[in-house]
Amino acid sequence: MPQDELVTSQEIEKQAWQLLENSIVYYQGRPIGTIAACDDSQAALNYDQVFVRDFVSSALLFLIKGRTDIVRYFLEETLKLQSKERQLDAYKPGKGLMPASFKVVIENGQESLQADFGEHAIARVTPVDSGLWWIILLHAYVKATKDIKFALQPEFQKGILLIMELCLATRFDMYPTLLVPDAACMIDRRMGIFGYPIEIQALFYTALRAARELGVCAGDTEIVSAIDDRLPLLKHHIRHHYWIDINRLNAIYHFKGEEYGTKAVNQFNIYADSLPYDKFDMWLPRKGGYFAGNVGPSQLDTRFFSLGNLMAIISSLATEEQSQAIITLIEERWDNLVGHMPMKICFPALEGEDYRIVTGSDPKNRPWSYHNGGNWPVLMWMLAAAAIKTGRNHLGEKAIEIAEARIMEDEWSEYYDGSRGLLIGREARRYQTWTITGFLLAKELLRNPDVLGLVSFDEFHPDTGSTNACEL
Ligand code: GLC
Repeated sequence: MPQDELVTSQEIEKQAWQLLENSIVYYQGRPIGTIAACDDSQAALNYDQVFVRDFVSSALLFLIKGRTDIVRYFLEETLKLQSKERQLDAYKPGKGLMPASFKVVIENGQESLQADFGEHAIARVTPVDSGLWWIILLHAYVKATKDIKFALQPEFQKGILLIMELCLATRFDMYPTLLVPDAACMIDRRMGIFGYPIEIQALFYTALRAARELGVCAGDTEIVSAIDDRLPLLKHHIRHHYWIDINRLNAIYHFKGEEYGTKAVNQFNIYADSLPYDKFDMWLPRKGGYFAGNVGPSQLDTRFFSLGNLMAIISSLATEEQSQAIITLIEERWDNLVGHMPMKICFPALEGEDYRIVTGSDPKNRPWSYHNGGNWPVLMWMLAAAAIKTGRNHLGEKAIEIAEARIMEDEWSEYYDGSRGLLIGREARRYQTWTITGFLLAKELLRNPDVLGLVSFDEFHPDTGSTNACEL
């Protein structure tokens, strides 16, 4: 690399670390998280809060750098915020729920934390992903610090149990996947992802893997056996019913409908004519494949959602072959999925009538903007992690190079608009913390691939972890 480029790259990184430092939120004198965005030029709305999902990439960086205290305080304080009581009041968060975000409020000189479980959020959306991320982060903390005693404290065991109960309880449906409302994750506005979105399923699987390892250490056979019952079913369901590649597409194209009984091939009664074959003609490469966005009754949402697919690779929810196919698809369709800024949140965008009906004509989610096909730099770390896991490190490097060309100049924009992500998002916040950390974490991962072990899992075998229980 020529000298001047090297300097620039170092300067970008230096600024990013400084901005991360500036984003730290203190509570009663202790660092407890990072603010979503430090942008004074726009209304704060809730961007002045610490979001659980946003903090994960900050936390992993702090763990890598040995700044474990901030992650510990975050885990402790969020645990205190978790809803612990059984609620019959519909306006109170359900038992076990973790908040989407929180902020420090000062009243009469006293500091306290005010959590948002969706009761303040725009459109009152539910943060199903928060509890899942919380467990994934707790597990990463234990791996980084080797302090298993921290997670074995009774209040932490109770916290994990409540999240597990919330997720594993018998519900109104007969699927091993989690049934959730629209906008229950990173995509926190209406985008037609209610039902069984891949983002939640991949995080659910990762959280189950993390909770299982912690449960084995705690000698909690009840939790471990409940998780062991669910993991194989969930894994099989996703690997089989969500998978799309040329062969699978051909099979679906020839599906018969209205099959009754347990022997049905087309179990969910997907109508073959509901799939956009013309789009696949243009887009699906011969070698690649991916997990569909959602599978439900007569529903196969064929949009590609990045977070779910990348986390499926990282957690080994995908088979080795499927992981290779997903990353091949990303490489083959680089222009569509990465373009001018890594990487698309989903592809393709909803347009025309679909946009009007599915998003409710949401002006923020116009086609190729924000959640509706925008490009989100935070996803860079998961892209780098998935690239490392599949042995394609060069793709992570390439993504960083693309970002470096503009990310600092664009003031660490939250997201980008346009079918290739050319434009700074119309309502994007600047100095968005998870843009900064997504970039930094991608760099750290590529520099030291061992770090991947904090969030990644190998193929699941029921006897994994029974011996050497606490050598996480
Ligand atoms: C937006 C994003 C959400 C994120 C929040 C704070 O609402 O959709 O995923 O957590 O901003 O950055």
